Amino acid sequence: MKQTILITGGVGYIGSHACLEFLAAGFRLVVLDNLCNSSLESLRRVKELSGHNIPFVEADIRDRAALDRLFAEYAIDAVIHFAGLKAVGESVEKPLRYYDNNIAGSITLFEAMQAAGVKTVVFSSSATVYGDPASVPIREDFPVGATTNPYGRSKLIIEQVLGDLAASDPEWRIALLRYFNPVGAHKSGRIGEDPRGTPNNLMPYISQVAVGRREYLNVWGNDYPTPDGTGVRDYIHVVDLALGHVKAVEKLREGPGVRIWNLGTGRGYSVVEMARAFEQASGRPVPYKFGPRRAGDIAQCWADPSLAEHELGWKASRGLEEMCEDTWRWQSMNPNGFDS
Ligand code: NAD
Ligand code: UFG
Repeated sequence: MKQTILITGGVGYIGSHACLEFLAAGFRLVVLDNLCNSSLESLRRVKELSGHNIPFVEADIRDRAALDRLFAEYAIDAVIHFAGLKAVGESVEKPLRYYDNNIAGSITLFEAMQAAGVKTVVFSSSATVYGDPASVPIREDFPVGATTNPYGRSKLIIEQVLGDLAASDPEWRIALLRYFNPVGAHKSGRIGEDPRGTPNNLMPYISQVAVGRREYLNVWGNDYPTPDGTGVRDYIHVVDLALGHVKAVEKLREGPGVRIWNLGTGRGYSVVEMARAFEQASGRPVPYKFGPRRAGDIAQCWADPSLAEHELGWKASRGLEEMCEDTWRWQSMNPNGFDS
C-alpha cells in the first residue's frame, strides 16, 4: 500500500528535491507551502520531471483551519516538515518573525496532526543546534543548546517540543534530521537553489560569481585555526540529503519514539577549497577577496554520519565535484533562477 506524505515547504530548495526522491521511491505526495520564499515554477518542474500530478495547497502552517481541511481531504500517513524561514542574519533582525513562523507554525502543524491522528513527522533540523562544537566530527550525542541566533534557537526549541510531545504520547514517531550544509542541484538542471536577493550562503554566492552576476566572493575570515585559515564546513549534495528523508520515513515504520540523525558526509572543505572546486567544475574564474570574520560563524563543523549509515543504511555518495557540477548546470541553465 502506497503511503501518502505531506511535504510542508515542498516548493522550496530541499523540499522540491525531496518530492522527486519520494515519488521515485513510490510514495504519494501532497505539498503545502505559502510561497514566501519559493516559486510555483519549482513545483511545476517537479511535476514535469516526475510525470506525476502533485496536489498543492497554498497555505501557511500557522493557518489551523487550512491544515484541518487538508488532513480531512487527504489520508496523510506522515509529514515531512521543511516549511520555515532560514536566514540567520534576518533572524537576528526579526526574531519575533522567526519565532512566530518557525515555532508557532510548527506547533500549529503538530496540533493539527495530533487532531487528525497523524503522528509521524520528519523535522528539518540543523547542525546549528550544536553551536560551536568542542571537537569535530560531531556526533548526535554532542551537547546542544549553545545556539548563537534566533534561527538556530527556533530549530532547537522545535526539537524540544517534539521531544516533549513524544514523552506525552507514546504513539508519536519522530525523526530529527540535523542537516550540515546542503548544496548542489538535481541532475536535470531544472530545479535548484534560487535565493532571493544577495545570497548569504557560500555555494549560491560562488555560483553567481562564476556566472557573472557578482564580481567576486567575499571570504569571511582567513585567520581561523583551519589548514588555510578559512571556515570549514560539511557540504552535502541536496539529492543525498533528500534520500536521507526517504530512509528516515521508512525507518519510522519500525516503531514509535524520537530518533536523531546527522545528515552530512563526514568531510569538511574550506571556503577557498570550495571556490577552487567550483572553478574546476565550471571552467569559470571565481575571484575572491579576504574580509573580516562574519559575526556568529564558527571555524569548523563536520558530521560524524556513521549513526545514519548504521541505522538507516544511508550514506552520502555524491562528492564535491558532483556538487559543484550540478550547481553549475542549474546556475548556467537558469542564470536568474526560476525567473529565467
Ligand atoms: P527554502 O526557503 O527554499 O524552503 C522553505 C519553504 O518553506 C519555502 O518554499 C517557503 O515558502 C516555505 N515556508 C516558509 N514558511 C512557511 C509557512 N509559515 N507556511 C508555509 N510554508 C512556509 O529553504 P530550504 O533550504 O529548502 O530549507 C528547508 C528546511 O530545511 C528549513 O526548515 C530550513 O530551516 C532547514 N535547513 C536548511 C538548511 C540550508 O542550508 N538550506 C540547513 C539546515 C536546515
Ligand atoms: N562564507 C564566505 N562568504 C560568503 C558566504 C559564506 O566566506 O559570501 C563562508 C562562511 O563564513 C562559512 C562558510 O562560507 O565559513 C559557509 O557559510 P554558509 O553561510 O554557506 O553556511 P553556514 O555554515 O554559515 O550555515 C548553514 C546554513 C544554516 C545552517 C548551517 C548548518 O545557513 O542555516 O549551515 O550547518 F544551520
